[in-house]
Amino acid sequence: MRSELFGTLPDGTPVHRWTLERGGTRVRVLTYGGIVQSVEVPDGRGQVAGIALGFAELGGYLEHPGPYFGALVGRYANRIAGGVFSLDGGTYRLAQNNGPNSLHGGECGFDKRVWEAEPEGSESEGVRLSRVSPDGEEGFPGRLTVSATYRLGEDGAFSIAYEARTDAPTVVSLTNHTYWNLAGAGTGGARGHVLRIAAGRYTPLDSVQIPTGEFAEVAGTRCDFREERVVGAGYDHNFVLDKGVTEGAEAVAELCDPSSGRVLSVATTEPGLQLYTADHFGAELPFAPGDGIALETQRFPDSPNQGGFPSAVLRPGGVFASETVYRFSVR
Ligand code: BGC
Repeated sequence: MRSELFGTLPDGTPVHRWTLERGGTRVRVLTYGGIVQSVEVPDGRGQVAGIALGFAELGGYLEHPGPYFGALVGRYANRIAGGVFSLDGGTYRLAQNNGPNSLHGGECGFDKRVWEAEPEGSESEGVRLSRVSPDGEEGFPGRLTVSATYRLGEDGAFSIAYEARTDAPTVVSLTNHTYWNLAGAGTGGARGHVLRIAAGRYTPLDSVQIPTGEFAEVAGTRCDFREERVVGAGYDHNFVLDKGVTEGAEAVAELCDPSSGRVLSVATTEPGLQLYTADHFGAELPFAPGDGIALETQRFPDSPNQGGFPSAVLRPGGVFASETVYRFSVR
């Protein structure tokens, strides 16, 4: 692994880029926002392509924060209804940065912070990003000590392991917001990719994209990805993964680009997977709607306000630990 200066923020803070390389896979991670800037893998003929949407320069990320390209999202990935939740007798107000709701940790979430970086492990190509999110940051209670360790295994599998500890009760859900295009980022749309998700249910939404609390069957709907189907457009849904929360990462989804044969398999410890087909990409972006597919492993949206969802609460003495593994292959 190696690191280099990638750019400088307007306030002079340097941003570094770490390169992990192994087994034919190369991954580049930024200390700004924990962003996965690029993932390069070969196809069946050995043709290498970058399959994660991103920018060559820091300025691209600063100019276009809205889509969360490749970012480490937190303290709470996805929406919290009305930007408010109660926990252990306290009520906490967050930025309403998405209609009436709080989205992806607020105005200045983990995706816009500069993380400390250190090399991780001798057995794997890895980098460990860490930071302390102060008590009250973006309205969240508790001082959160958080890390995300990015590793490339011997077989070229790319994993992200998250860990967090707090000094007061809080809520945590962390994800990575990479948009995948297995044909190659910038080569066109990803809507022809085929996808399988091991989820028999999903969480239906109200008019402002907050879960109704119901778990609906995917059978007979366009959310039925139990058998492989063409992705298409118009998805921004959380799937209730059949396996639930698990201690180790279990396989939950497989995305394939039939033209190149490249396959991405996702395994996770998390109970939810948000499928977002990038339909809101605006004309100001160098990518068009549908140019990438985000597969965000996470707790469910709005869990802090939904008693029937897997808990996202972290209390002092406890550890939030989650892991997602991305494996690349060809068909
Ligand atoms: C959300 C979308 C949102 C996007 C922001 C996704 O994780 O589910 O609703 O528009 O992030 O880029």
